[in-house]
Amino acid sequence: MRVTHKVQKLFSVDALLSLSEHIARRTHPVSASSILNTIDQEALDDLRQKYPRHPDSPKINQFEDARYWVRINLKRVQDLWLDRSPPIRILDLGCGSGFFLYICKLFHHDIVGLDRDTNPLFRGTTELLGVPRVPSDIHPCIPLVDLGGKFDLVTAYRICFQRMEKQGKGVWKEWGPKEWTFFLNDLRSRFLKPGGRILLDFNPRTDGTYFDEPVRECFRQQGARFFRSKVLFAADPRTRPKFKQLTSRS
Ligand SMILES: C[S@@+](CC[C@H](N)C(=O)[O-])C[C@H]1O[C@@H](n2cnc3c(N)ncnc32)[C@H](O)[C@@H]1O
Repeated sequence: MRVTHKVQKLFSVDALLSLSEHIARRTHPVSASSILNTIDQEALDDLRQKYPRHPDSPKINQFEDARYWVRINLKRVQDLWLDRSPPIRILDLGCGSGFFLYICKLFHHDIVGLDRDTNPLFRGTTELLGVPRVPSDIHPCIPLVDLGGKFDLVTAYRICFQRMEKQGKGVWKEWGPKEWTFFLNDLRSRFLKPGGRILLDFNPRTDGTYFDEPVRECFRQQGARFFRSKVLFAADPRTRPKFKQLTSRS
């Protein structure tokens, strides 16, 4: 790599955002162990025994490992300043095991998860963590179920609901601009308060990308900000959304 390229990379927007996230976490530390102390690891182990992991399943699917998942989700919470924000209403789509919302709850936020009800382990962990969850599927171009009001923040981490049909090992036919536009309009009109935000966090595909160029362009037209796997939207597409925001519940 040429020196100029290295220097450019060092000062890229992503690198600066990453550094700023890191500094914000260091200047406002939160004790992961005090969070871990609130979680019954034995009960999680019992759940895993009851619902064993598939032998080929990757390590990332060790949802019984509270230490690992608290570390990941505490970073997510800190990067959105939810550890210092006044209480807000948060909806997490595809909430999985529920650790993200559990930590949000410890910081006094009002939480709701939505997930398809196909994984008994997730049913068990959300119940154990006291995370309220609406069992429902997200379908392309179909409005979401009624979730009882509007939210200040809608999140979706390591999303999979945009995958429609498997086309090969790790390759999926995914939502295009039509499906994403429908989804974002539905969220903005029915679920987001004025001043609210939507954060989508994508799993990397086998080629390292997160989505195709037409989808990126669609997100851009919807006012998105991009940071690595994350795409952030404001309630109003003409407003620049902020990752770090102190929101008051309205
Ligand atoms: C990779 S997991 C991520 C879980 C969690 N957000 C996290 O970051 O740990 C994807 C989640 O999306 C859910 N999911 C996948 N497709 C869905 C759909 N069409 N509707 C609702 N949930 C879906 C799965 O059940 C799973 O909980």
